[in-house]
Amino acid sequence: MTEQTAVTEKPKAVPALPNAAKVTEVTHWTDRLFSFKVERPQTLRFRSGEFVMIGLMGDAHPETGVQKPLMRAYSIASPSWDEELEFYSIKVQDGPLTSKLQHIKVGDEIILRPKPVGTLVTDAILPGKRLWMFATGTGIAPFASLMREPEVYEKYDEVILMHTCREVGELEYGRKLVEHIKSDEMLSEIEVGKLRYYPTTTREEFHQMGRVTDNLISGKVFEDLGIDPINPETDRGMVCGNLAFNKDIMEILDGFGLREGANSEPKEYVVEKAFVD
Ligand SMILES: Cc1cc2nc3c(=O)[nH]c(=O)nc-3n(C[C@H](O)[C@H](O)[C@H](O)COP(=O)(O)OP(=O)(O)OC[C@H]3O[C@@H](n4cnc5c(N)ncnc54)[C@H](O)[C@@H]3O)c2cc1C
Ligand SMILES: NC(=O)c1ccc[n+]([C@@H]2O[C@H](COP(=O)([O-])OP(=O)(O)OC[C@H]3O[C@@H](n4cnc5c(N)ncnc54)[C@H](OP(=O)(O)O)[C@@H]3O)[C@@H](O)[C@H]2O)c1
Repeated sequence: MTEQTAVTEKPKAVPALPNAAKVTEVTHWTDRLFSFKVERPQTLRFRSGEFVMIGLMGDAHPETGVQKPLMRAYSIASPSWDEELEFYSIKVQDGPLTSKLQHIKVGDEIILRPKPVGTLVTDAILPGKRLWMFATGTGIAPFASLMREPEVYEKYDEVILMHTCREVGELEYGRKLVEHIKSDEMLSEIEVGKLRYYPTTTREEFHQMGRVTDNLISGKVFEDLGIDPINPETDRGMVCGNLAFNKDIMEILDGFGLREGANSEPKEYVVEKAFVD
């Protein structure tokens, strides 16, 4: 291209990003995990624990040049009252979205469809005394939201987060968040000592080990925390992990006499996939 044509050629129209949300913070936790915050659209209302569709524009089609949004479901990891929206994400090296999303920087824009939905909400379970949050991997994201939700501590006497990852570094996001909740002046007033944290690893040495499922079946978690086993009269559960985990833990909860509920029919526990295998 000559200088002459560059001056006379009309600039190509850059399409404005639909539902754009500006990135305000990015933290990389491991080579597979990162979290980021975006400005919250003023009109977005959601219940802590819900998910939205977020994404980026895909690459231009080689022939038509048309770009399509590449959207995926993401739990909102921040609580409903927060001014910003936080997300906690996997980095799948050949994943259509996260191979790109992992490179976002402060000031970039993502696409955020402001239609929150989901079953991991307090409305979908019956009142009770103890609320269990069972998570593997990035399945902690909806609980990062719920752990900072005042209503959770108003409704339950005890809130127990069981989070299992393969390696210690993958627990760090949750560990730091719990530490922050317990030390922050405002959040500790919301939590009032009710939050109990039970992190475990399965493939790297750690002071507490084992799958969530195994620690429930063996009763180890009840012994370690010095509490009674799960009882349908008092205990409620929320589950978020891979498909096999969700299936296995549902069997265990059913065995304890708990029933799966939904927004339309609250019962003793609710389940959501952390990702589609
Ligand atoms: C209801 C719901 C909520 C979700 N919330 C989150 C969230 O908060 N954070 C998040 O990182 N992802 C979440 N996901 C998964 C997310 O939608 C995408 O699958 C993920 O961002 C990867 O996108 P991708 O296009 O790069 O790869 P995809 O083509 O979507 O996935 C490729 C493969 O990567 C693996 N994979 C995908 N997501 C994960 C994950 N989270 N952890 C481990 N392995 C995974 C699976 O084997 C999958 O088949 C959620 C999914 C659902 C259904
Ligand atoms: N995490 C990594 O270091 C790593 C690295 C490269 C690629 N990957 C790939 O990324 C994908 C997701 O890996 P991930 O580690 O994020 O998630 P994941 O495979 O769902 O494992 C997360 C945690 O959940 C446990 N778990 C898995 N299935 C379970 C079940 N049915 N019941 C109870 N607990 C269960 C795992 O224990 P177990 O360890 O006992 O399975 C692990 O501690 C996988 O396809 C994996 O091959 C992971």
